[in-house]
Amino acid sequence: MTFRERLRALPTFPPGLPPFGVDLDDLATAPATPQELFAQWFDDALAAGVGAPHAATLSTADAAGRVHARTLVIKDVTAEGWWFAGHATSPKGRDVAENPHAALTVFWRDLGRQVRVTGRATSAGAEAGAADFRARPDGSRAAGLVGHQSEPLGSRQEYWDAFAGRLDEAREHPDAVAPAWTAWVLTPVAVEFWAASDDKGQSRLRYRTDAPPARTETAWTKELLWP
Ligand SMILES: Cc1cc2nc3c(=O)[nH]c(=O)nc-3n(C[C@H](O)[C@H](O)[C@H](O)COP(=O)(O)O)c2cc1C
Repeated sequence: MTFRERLRALPTFPPGLPPFGVDLDDLATAPATPQELFAQWFDDALAAGVGAPHAATLSTADAAGRVHARTLVIKDVTAEGWWFAGHATSPKGRDVAENPHAALTVFWRDLGRQVRVTGRATSAGAEAGAADFRARPDGSRAAGLVGHQSEPLGSRQEYWDAFAGRLDEAREHPDAVAPAWTAWVLTPVAVEFWAASDDKGQSRLRYRTDAPPARTETAWTKELLWP
């Protein structure tokens, strides 16, 4: 079999996909905010045993429009938006500083579902970044204290030596925070819920707002999209 044939033979979704979880013929009955529907779908993903349901692809672009995407974990979902964290000095941090427009995409294969959050990412401030960093396990704090993320590395030994030193520091100083560690919140202008089904094709429900951060339920427009 060629690689192409192997790819084409793969099923994308398992059989027995769940229903959308919202009456798409009566959007007035759908959750008033995308945060609520996200929480509902997230619980479904947990119940279905989806691995790392909090992992998402963060897409950013620099000032010249060059796009960069990477996986990270969602740290919280609030009225302000979807939270993630990392080094401000990393490529993602530089992109967001140059151009706040960003997107987070979650794919829950076992449920045949995707969520796309699009909006503007902003730093939540020094205190929020420090609180996020302090809540990480020692090993993750040590890796964060090493810094230099995404810079070329001379040898793995160089990293291990740096990591070992920082692990001691992380254990001795639980309050130590990597200076550039930042919590960002992606405040959505649109959140799209996409679901495959066994027999009825795909369904798409989009929430959008002209007034982010949309704190009131009436600030969201709900609409179906052609698949
Ligand atoms: C499942 C998973 C979770 C990750 N979580 C984070 C995270 O929360 N924050 C982070 O900065 N990088 C995280 N990473 C690493 C990023 O994918 C990426 O390698 C790193 O942030 C550097 O990206 P950048 O060079 O685009 O800034 C994670 C990777 C994986 C596979």
